[in-house]
Amino acid sequence: MKKRLGVLDSGIGGLTFVDAIMRQKLNLDLLYVSDSKNVPYGNKSQRFMQQQIAIMMTALVAKKVDAVLMACNTATAETIDQMRQQFEVPIIGIEPYMRHPQLNPSDQQRKYALILTPATKASARFQRLQKQNDPEGLIDVFALERFALAVESLKHRTLSEVEHTLAVELAPLQQKNYTHVILGCTHYAIVSQWIAQQLNVEMIDPTPNIIAHLKNAMQVSAGENRSNFLYSENCGQTWTQKNIREFSFLGQ
Ligand code: DGL
Repeated sequence: MKKRLGVLDSGIGGLTFVDAIMRQKLNLDLLYVSDSKNVPYGNKSQRFMQQQIAIMMTALVAKKVDAVLMACNTATAETIDQMRQQFEVPIIGIEPYMRHPQLNPSDQQRKYALILTPATKASARFQRLQKQNDPEGLIDVFALERFALAVESLKHRTLSEVEHTLAVELAPLQQKNYTHVILGCTHYAIVSQWIAQQLNVEMIDPTPNIIAHLKNAMQVSAGENRSNFLYSENCGQTWTQKNIREFSFLGQ
């Protein structure tokens, strides 16, 4: 029998993982759950997130998933420890990269910026990660206030309609000669190519590495082509079948 993977996020950011898993044809049944009423989480309290993520986790466990991918840096930072205590199902989280073979912050030719949500930046988990992996502060960290919400609105707006808001949010990174930008929020990955063009930088996106880890952890290989999955944007109250191609905003 095919293994079932639950993927969760505050909104549409985690769909980048659904897309990547389907492109790699991984032999998995996917269920995606989000909280579109309360997105973005980046300006919510830890307590609020813990309550909402527990509701989503309960819905996924009721659907008998074999593992959960917390496809949200903010939820991972603020809730993963508690969720691992509360639920038996294995949970894979996602954290902003501060140390990775792809990064070489002491290389004088390179200058790195990490973009993430205000809640991730303020979280104890991120502060720890930063202290351990970048004690000299070589990577500049920017918490973007409205970026995730603007990306979320791509559900019903075009990129050109939200571009102005996105550009204002990125303004603090302009003219600083960054060579690399690290994506610390899955919503941002949706507009990764657009960010790269705006700032003339290379993007560092952890998605392929997380997928490699997931393949290994769940012991799954590539199977047949598929594009359908179960989708809920109300924390698992109701589910519908969706095709990933319906989410035409992916990969801008
Ligand atoms: N997609 C999320 C992340 O990776 C959170 C965006 C938000 O809800 O603020 O951090």
